[in-house]
Amino acid sequence: MRLAFRVLRQFEGKTRLGPVVWVRSVSDSPPLRGVVNDNKDIKGVKGEQSWLCASSVPVLQTVRGHVEVRENFITEEEENALLKELEPGLKKKRYEFDHWDDAIHGYRETERLQWGSACAALLGRVRAVAFPEGSPLLGPVHVLDLDKAGYIKPHVDSVKFCGSTIAGLCLLSDSVMRLVREENPADWVDLLLSRRSLYILRDEARFKFTHEILKDEDSFFSGQRVPRHRRISVICRNLPV
Ligand code: OGA
Ligand code: MN
Repeated sequence: MRLAFRVLRQFEGKTRLGPVVWVRSVSDSPPLRGVVNDNKDIKGVKGEQSWLCASSVPVLQTVRGHVEVRENFITEEEENALLKELEPGLKKKRYEFDHWDDAIHGYRETERLQWGSACAALLGRVRAVAFPEGSPLLGPVHVLDLDKAGYIKPHVDSVKFCGSTIAGLCLLSDSVMRLVREENPADWVDLLLSRRSLYILRDEARFKFTHEILKDEDSFFSGQRVPRHRRISVICRNLPV
């Protein structure tokens, strides 16, 4: 079932150009969570790539070309450069655990428009590989810091505010992103997001599937445990056309 509730979130970033309001529709699909999460032995069907696993071959075919993980997209030095820019601002905020109805549990976040040269260069690389040419981009980059106990519940990013493509750099920890088809929760896809990888969700995978980041105790990929530590994601989006 979709749209248990809508969540309005407003960013507090100092570099904000104007009020940016995110609407996330959160899916409440308890049966699915039961099926997948309670059975760590479910391995699904492995994709051709080591980071892709799904509930069936047809699901793999549906998302082919619409999901991508580029492992080691950034170097350790680049990860450190990002952290150096982001940590001072993030540390001033407290992790939010209280809002039970929020799409995200145990997080703090910010957005950033201006970057130092090393970070600006790597973000340029992200944009070059992720977005269709000429696609208008959302200026500020979204930075989401998940506590070790934090996680992201199934949701679809607002179609009103975000376009066809979501591209995220993963810092500090490996994690598992699960996509679940909204019209049929038996259809799922797991992406292994290794530390310093870039993931890209496009079109079908972005609009027809919810996405979530599994909490530490549920963090398994193809039956293998993937410990989830504190994780920061740096997310670029384009605008709806
Ligand atoms: C979000 C989201 C994923 C991530 O903020 O809407 O889905 O990688 N984030 O942090
Ligand atoms: Mn999202």
